[in-house]
Amino acid sequence: MAARDPWPLRRAVVTGAAGFIGSHLCRALLDQGATVIAVDRRDPGLDPVAARNLSDAFDRPSFFFVAADLRACAIEPLVLDADVIFHLAGIPGVHPSWGGSFADYVACNILATQRLMHAATRLRVPRVVVASSSSVYGATNGHPSRETDHLRPASPYAVTKLAQEQLCLAHAARPDCASTVVALRYFTVYGPRQRDDMFLHRLLMAAITGEPVQIYGDGSQRRDFTYITDAVNATIAAATVPSANSVINVGGGTTVSVNDAVALAERLTGTPVTVHRVAARSGDVPATRADPTRARRVLGWSPQTELRVGMVAQLAAIRAERELLEEGMISS
Ligand code: NAD
Ligand code: UGA
Repeated sequence: MAARDPWPLRRAVVTGAAGFIGSHLCRALLDQGATVIAVDRRDPGLDPVAARNLSDAFDRPSFFFVAADLRACAIEPLVLDADVIFHLAGIPGVHPSWGGSFADYVACNILATQRLMHAATRLRVPRVVVASSSSVYGATNGHPSRETDHLRPASPYAVTKLAQEQLCLAHAARPDCASTVVALRYFTVYGPRQRDDMFLHRLLMAAITGEPVQIYGDGSQRRDFTYITDAVNATIAAATVPSANSVINVGGGTTVSVNDAVALAERLTGTPVTVHRVAARSGDVPATRADPTRARRVLGWSPQTELRVGMVAQLAAIRAERELLEEGMISS
């Protein structure tokens, strides 16, 4: 059998396609000429956020959306003949994982992944790129986290993300497995369409509306914020690199505190932000910071977008969406 041309990707499956990162990934893959099978349990016909996220994909003839829950749906028909599966479906968010919804984290992040990998390996899908998380490192002393570091996930969510990435790698390590895996540890991704539970979205909304933003703890916690386009570029690169069955950080190694981000938002909007300080939350680590060496070496990737530039783009997107809402062009 002739070897497959590694690029362009002919047929890509994106799980979690209606979400923040997944929807941007779909759009980028379509722009590069791929056929995209987009899978999500949120149905854009019923869910306004999913509809908004995918609004720039639906008019593309090579985009096929399937509303399906990976915990129970038949997966093989979805991934048949795929060159790559980008597995982004899952329950994100650190804090809620301490509560009653932990069973959903386990079911969507671990059990659904086991079903997906079973189908992917049975059908010999050549590459699975899975969304892991910087949270697997746990509390660090602020030094750059390397993929080889000892892992101490500090929240139930982080434990499920570690289980998810290791589960994918365990499948790939089987002697009879023809599928390869790249697990990407994303570091706090931001930009247009960021989830509304995430900090920069809430901060920019506060700056626009004058409503207060809550800060958990003293605001000294630092994040290696990664712009969505950069995260998508790393994700697409991971589909075709020859070196696989590994984990790779997706973060640039620059950290900014929550307090610094507030000051930046104030400068960008010219408006003071009202901050309500509330108690720190369990599992909220003091700092995340990627060592990007492996990403640079294996993916040829380094982030291109400074936080200030990315926040300007996110601010513009929020303003544009609010205008459409006010004009009644979209529903909330
Ligand atoms: P998101 O919530 O916007 O998207 C996730 C999507 O997965 C949702 O649309 C959801 O409906 C779908 N989904 C969940 N369970 C499903 C199931 N059982 N079947 C089908 N679809 C299902 O989240 P996001 O911010 O885009 O994150 C995407 C992935 O990246 C997640 O796995 C998350 O853990 C990981 N991640 C995100 C970040 C970040 O900063 N956003 C950082 C690290 C890792
Ligand atoms: C984010 C994503 O939400 C997770 O899904 C992902 O796994 C993780 O990044 C990752 O990098 O792996 P987090 O860094 O907590 O998690 O992202 P934000 O929700 O944007 O929070 C950033 C910081 O702001 C945290 O310290 C958080 O406690 C704080 N925050 C958040 C507030 O002070 N107020 C808020 O209203 C929201």
